[in-house]
Amino acid sequence: MPETTGDWAPADFERHGHELLATLRQHFELIRDVPVARPYDAAELMGRLDTALPEQGEEFPRILTDTWENVVPDLVHWNHPAFHAYFSTCASFPGMLAETMTAALNVNSMLWKTSPSASALEQVVLRWIAELAGYPGDSDGLLVGGASLATLYALGAARDAALDYDVREEGMSGPHAKVARIYTSDQAHSSVDKAAITLGIGLRNVVKVPSDDRYGMRPDLLESAIARDVAAGYVPVAVVATVGTTSVAAADPLEPISEICRRLGVWLHVDAAYGGLFAFASRMGGEAEDVSVGDSLVVNPQKTLFVPLDSTALYCRRRGALANTYRLVPEYLTSVHTGGTFDFMDLSPQLGRGFRALKLWWVLRSFGRSGLRSRLDHAMELADRLRELAVGDPDWQCPAPSRYPLVCLRYAPRGGVGSGTDLDDLNARIVKELNDSGEAFVSHSVIRDGYVIRVSLANIHTTADDIERLWAALNHAAEKCR
Ligand SMILES: Cc1ncc(COP(=O)(O)O)c(C=O)c1O
Repeated sequence: MPETTGDWAPADFERHGHELLATLRQHFELIRDVPVARPYDAAELMGRLDTALPEQGEEFPRILTDTWENVVPDLVHWNHPAFHAYFSTCASFPGMLAETMTAALNVNSMLWKTSPSASALEQVVLRWIAELAGYPGDSDGLLVGGASLATLYALGAARDAALDYDVREEGMSGPHAKVARIYTSDQAHSSVDKAAITLGIGLRNVVKVPSDDRYGMRPDLLESAIARDVAAGYVPVAVVATVGTTSVAAADPLEPISEICRRLGVWLHVDAAYGGLFAFASRMGGEAEDVSVGDSLVVNPQKTLFVPLDSTALYCRRRGALANTYRLVPEYLTSVHTGGTFDFMDLSPQLGRGFRALKLWWVLRSFGRSGLRSRLDHAMELADRLRELAVGDPDWQCPAPSRYPLVCLRYAPRGGVGSGTDLDDLNARIVKELNDSGEAFVSHSVIRDGYVIRVSLANIHTTADDIERLWAALNHAAEKCR
């Protein structure tokens, strides 16, 4: 029977750790036999898991077995080499071990004095990531819990920098309130809208600038929209440009957009959550958008650099702007700063923060710049192979091709489809059929061509054989749905 006071003995911690690692090792060795997902019955699942809170503690082997038998089978395995949905995220082994160590140390990186080497390492990895993305390494920066939060924090700072009264003091409804506006493309991620809701700017003040036929924002329409709004008395607080849009991984043309922002004095936030860290891949051929033109930037190592959730970097080259908005120091959090130290709590609304830097440090050191580059190149090669298969098959279309490893596919069989079935519906059924089969897991979007099947290639274990298997599974699902 477990003790009623105190924790496990350190020796038990080690023993159970070995049990867990042995289970995980087997899981990863046999991963291709594990369905990526399986159809579930929510009521049955809840019934199976919704047990009474145990009165007495239980032995770990029993908890582990129960987890493996009753929880793991009904997970969608985001870390599976056949998981290709959304922007597929991937945790590599060094990242997983770092997460374990981070939990064991349980450091709170809120102040420099509460986490000296964690704060130092956060600055180091931020500089390394900035270097990979091509952003100035001496910018303010911090690690945050996702790109949506990074965009919210950046737009908060942009709002306060643009409005000519003290928003911190008066809020958005005080006597000097003005109507603030944000400009982004009709392809932008919903996190921009959510930031506008949260910041009191309002959804109606997010101006969606139309994109061109390659899904990039139209700078001419951006400029005319801002000019119209300024004439009408609105205050443009920021433009959000995207590098790697969610639906098709398009990139907004940063150069002309930044030129407009500079000329009109509007903050440019670059959402390069997906696309930004492909900048150093050889297959980009040095033609990545120059994200350094952004006043602020978000990139997501959790999406592209094999670092476990959550791991997002927010940068701001307008030094001091984040602190102007978020720095608030009650007596109990005061520190004395020497030697250039500062407190990460000053750069965002968040106080308690985990030691996110460690997993980045371990992954970046384990693979190195060239190892990461070749892994990104490999994902891009796999995507090219899938596009080649689709383009070579008259029953498939490959709309809105991207240079990133996101492939949009649409099944449009030569002989047409039966009456009463349209192609959008057929493709939606293919997604369901494929996902229910457990052989792969994909997601979808609706673009100008209609409903498309999105295949995101980002898993560190995905091989060329997996792409051939995926193509066979897609065709099998398509045949069944016709
Ligand atoms: C372009 C873009 N920006 C932001 C986000 C939000 O990312 P997160 O889930 O880290 O908040 C996403 C999510 O996929 C995205 O595609």
